[in-house]
Amino acid sequence: MRKFVLAAAMVVAASGVASAQSGPNLIETRQVGFALLAGDFAGIRAVAAAKGDVKTLEGPAKAMGRYAAIIPSLFPQGTAAGNNTKALPEVWSKSDDFKKASAALGEASALLVKASAAGDAAGVDAAIKAVGDACGACHRAFRAR
Ligand code: HEC
Repeated sequence: MRKFVLAAAMVVAASGVASAQSGPNLIETRQVGFALLAGDFAGIRAVAAAKGDVKTLEGPAKAMGRYAAIIPSLFPQGTAAGNNTKALPEVWSKSDDFKKASAALGEASALLVKASAAGDAAGVDAAIKAVGDACGACHRAFRAR
């Protein structure tokens, strides 16, 4: 009996250690993701502004869409504070709207994928505007300045 209790206590202690120390810090992970997203988007805008080969933008645009699809999963309950997060409480109190704002970025990224794959420079410019609007709309509602 004592042995069993001791073993159970060790399992609990070990899993506590595991959850505290292993695995990524989700707040930092999402912040790094947004920083990479911003760098990706800046590169896309630079190529378009320089009238470069828009076909090269298909890969970076797909990456933006993939990140957009996982944004809501990077804001679970319990990650509203810490790591200097700028996430506003509305992320959790209006989570349906937050999911819609993430989906809007996904849709704009899909437009960008399509236009760049087609080599359609005007379509790329329009999609870039849609992506920028999606970033701004979410930040106004869900991110502190
Ligand atoms: C669905 C909402 C949403 C969308 C869409 C969104 N963001 Fe954000 N963004 C946030 C939130 C919330 C934070 C704050 C995250 C934190 O600090 O925990 C953030 C943080 C950032 C940061 C700061 C990252 C850091 O270093 O801490 C940058 C840069 C950024 N976003 C750029 C962008 C760009 C560029 C786009 C569009 C391509 C975009 N975001 C789209 C919600 C969004």
